[in-house]
Amino acid sequence: MEEKKIAGIKAAEYIQDNMVLGLGTGTTAYYMIEKVGELVSEGFNLKAVATSQNTADLANKFKIPLVSIDEVEKIDLAIDGVDEIDGRFNAIKGGGGALFREKMVADIADKVIWIMDSSKVVDSIGAFPLPVEILPYGYSHTLKKLKSLSFNPVLRIKDSVPFVTDNHNYIADLHIGKAFDIECVSQKLKSITGVLETGLFLDTCDIIVIGTGNGVEIVENRRDQ
Ligand code: 5RP
Repeated sequence: MEEKKIAGIKAAEYIQDNMVLGLGTGTTAYYMIEKVGELVSEGFNLKAVATSQNTADLANKFKIPLVSIDEVEKIDLAIDGVDEIDGRFNAIKGGGGALFREKMVADIADKVIWIMDSSKVVDSIGAFPLPVEILPYGYSHTLKKLKSLSFNPVLRIKDSVPFVTDNHNYIADLHIGKAFDIECVSQKLKSITGVLETGLFLDTCDIIVIGTGNGVEIVENRRDQ
């Protein structure tokens, strides 16, 4: 079975009846969402907050009851994909442009599980361009500022026009390479006017589920060690 599928299906085993779920975005999350749909059809009483319009469309297709993030006190379990993750559970997300909602959902979740194929696990993050969500107003100046700070931004383009997020913003993909101070870059980016959120997720997830050629590998984030 495909690595992404193995991971998506395995993570669904953490779902319990009556949970409020956070549904991630992407090709790996697809398999988990499909599985959630099966659980609902078997009688599980689940509610879900979608991290993107694409995911909301999928949830509707699989008849998963959706609620808005403002209708829930918290999320019991958020399951999402990832673009790159290192051994300290620092990650880059947002390849699909859903990073803002993905981060907000993760922030209010009791437990966060990330699902992935084995290519996503790396020694140090940064080979994957770091997405940041930027406001369209003044975006050329935000890009200039990012460039002046050596973040090598590239405005994400789709169908010859700027890619627009579900929050009606743009994405700049930063080509900063592997050797960077993650905390420092995160803080610097967040301090720039025009940058709304970054795809740097620092020590956010509790469990990672990796699909491999030999089955599934599960690693817990033991913060006490
Ligand atoms: C979307 C994301 C995705 O979780 C990430 O891009 C992984 O996607 P895939 O499972 O398709 O490889 O962050 O914004």
